[in-house]
Amino acid sequence: MSPLLISVMVILSCTRSLMPLKICPNCGHIAVPYPLSTGPDCGDQLYKVRCNAGLLWLDALNGSSYMITSINPLNQQLIIRPPGFTNNACIAADYGSQGIELNSNLRFNISGSNTVLILNCSNDILTKPYNCSSSSICHSYIRDNAVAQAACGNLPICCWLKTGGSVNEYRIRVREGRCAAYLSFVNLDMNLPVSKWPEPGVEIDWAFPQEPVCNALRDCKDLLNSMCLPDPASLVQKRCLCKAGFQWDPINGICQSLKCSNRRGCKHRKSKTPVMGGLAIAGVTLLLGIILVTVKVYKQSHHSNKEIEFSLMRAQKDISKANNSGRLARIYNSKEIKKATNNFSSDNLVGSGGFGEVFKGILDDGTITAVKRAKPGNTKGIDQILNEVRILCQLNHRSLVKLLGCCIELEQPLLVYEFIPNGTLFDHLHRARSGKWPPLTWHHRLHIAHQTAQALAYLHLLATPPIYHRDIKSSNILLNEKLDAKVSDFGLSRLAVSDASHVTTCAQGTLGYLDPEYYLNFQLTDKSDIYSFGVVLVELLTSKKAVDFNREETEVNLVVYYGKILKEERLMDVIDPMLKEGASKMELQIMEAFGLLAASCLEERRQNRPSIKEVADEIERIISVLTSAQIKLDT
Ligand SMILES: *[C@@H]1O[C@H](CO)[C@@H](O)[C@H](O)[C@H]1NC(C)=O
Ligand SMILES: *[C@@H]1O[C@H](CO)[C@@H](O)[C@H](O)[C@H]1NC(C)=O
Ligand SMILES: *[C@@H]1O[C@H](CO)[C@@H](O)[C@H](O)[C@H]1NC(C)=O
Ligand SMILES: *[C@@H]1O[C@H](CO)[C@@H](O)[C@H](O)[C@H]1NC(C)=O
Repeated sequence: MSPLLISVMVILSCTRSLMPLKICPNCGHIAVPYPLSTGPDCGDQLYKVRCNAGLLWLDALNGSSYMITSINPLNQQLIIRPPGFTNNACIAADYGSQGIELNSNLRFNISGSNTVLILNCSNDILTKPYNCSSSSICHSYIRDNAVAQAACGNLPICCWLKTGGSVNEYRIRVREGRCAAYLSFVNLDMNLPVSKWPEPGVEIDWAFPQEPVCNALRDCKDLLNSMCLPDPASLVQKRCLCKAGFQWDPINGICQSLKCSNRRGCKHRKSKTPVMGGLAIAGVTLLLGIILVTVKVYKQSHHSNKEIEFSLMRAQKDISKANNSGRLARIYNSKEIKKATNNFSSDNLVGSGGFGEVFKGILDDGTITAVKRAKPGNTKGIDQILNEVRILCQLNHRSLVKLLGCCIELEQPLLVYEFIPNGTLFDHLHRARSGKWPPLTWHHRLHIAHQTAQALAYLHLLATPPIYHRDIKSSNILLNEKLDAKVSDFGLSRLAVSDASHVTTCAQGTLGYLDPEYYLNFQLTDKSDIYSFGVVLVELLTSKKAVDFNREETEVNLVVYYGKILKEERLMDVIDPMLKEGASKMELQIMEAFGLLAASCLEERRQNRPSIKEVADEIERIISVLTSAQIKLDT
């Protein structure tokens, strides 16, 4: 057995007085860093490893188990030893379990840094992603390594591949009829002679742990400065979220103070000099921006070296993982934004919603922008905000308002969006009579519904992590000159921490659009967006406001009113007369179908509402029926 090399990097922290989450005891002489867990009451259960006789093991599926030879908690990586050959034959010792198959319910992945040699294969294997060329490094290895030579010496097929990319993150497979053995090397430099190759190893990544799951306040007693609150990301469970002024440090498993965490004690923050004056350089990618800004901001506010280090590590990791499709977004400084918005003057205020206010801003270069400011008070830490901005910057859909950048210098984080000039859907539907906008035709309304559904489908299904808009309403659907819909205000909710007071005051969402099931468990899900979208669909069909105190008392809430009408089977009566005017029988039927689709979105029970995909498909179907009918009519 080769000497066990354990390289656990311990970060010296000046916040050691803070109680960390339960870190597992050493395994023999080996430290077990958070979040790795060797038992049910320490670490994070999604990061299970096994301690046996002073050595750590990673258990995979089908009963195979691999010795952990090094752990690097700063990079969230560990290295396991591949099994080698069995019985002096060219057969992997874990052939019985078909090679390594990680438990995909845990948070471990095979990293992209492994070069895997595959040996003793059948002819079936001669396909990508394997490189089985006769000049390949695999042959050099067998020639020059005595053990491999003895086991696999005379076999003609010998291939290699690099893990990551399209290659499965959970397994390295051997099996009957394909290949029987493998070896793996971490960060292999193929130009080195075989004698200089490192010991075999398989590098495994783990994802940052999230705050621990909880059901009640007492579950959070191990994580100081946290409270048991609904998880804003998943919305189906609660977690011990750090209180205001603290942020989750996933490396150490603590709620880290955002203020003064260095030993020299708490100096007053310097007045907010615009240190980032020269920093916002257009064309610098946001991620690079994150590094610089994070360092500056942290230095300015006397943050510990450790925190800076942590943020840097993370930003770097993100860069290396970025798939280059990210758009360029800027970091704006506070001076620019204050100037652009006339110091947030009320003249520039163009709207306000559940999560913040929107100001029109004109930048020095003449670009007109919409600057969104999260509500004061309960915003997340800088780190989390940068994280959210990074997520939002990766979003790119023609029916979503574009995020141009952000500003994090002021008390509240700001997001800077493109400005969409032609008013909101609310304006067009409910203020059309003012004469500023001509009434929307049925054709336009269908397209607006369809585009909005597609934008939501993108947020729900293609964004990672999925984003629930949480404040869908007609005044958040902007229209451009061609009356194309641009959904705005998505993601602002991600900047706000939902705290206890938030929950009891129900400040999320907007009256008239809010999922009734929210009151049952205070959770907003994808189906809450569907409900709100259903209200918008009814608005499109009826041109009535979601809430209107000019209507009779029982009809103030459009959903209640609409439900009553449907029960009485009078759907046709509530359709906007302007739409019905001159409509063919066919078109009326289509309006009815549209009305029933809206009703299905408004089902009281979440599970009865359709998914966004189903809604988008149905609207598409309605549109195609309409257009093919029109074509028939025209010919
Ligand atoms: C190659 O693998 C097969 C099983 O697939 C095994 O029966 C055979 O002995 C192996 N060959 C060598 C030379 O070890
Ligand atoms: C390994 O486990 C998977 C799923 O648990 C199963 O499909 C597969 O057949 C197993 N393989 C062996 C060799 O037991
Ligand atoms: C594993 O890799 C997949 C694909 O790259 C990724 O979606 C997933 O988040 C990764 N999981 C962990 C725990 O790193
Ligand atoms: C296969 O690997 C060898 C090095 O081992 C390399 O020179 C060759 O270009 C590779 N072939 C392909 C198709 O990638």
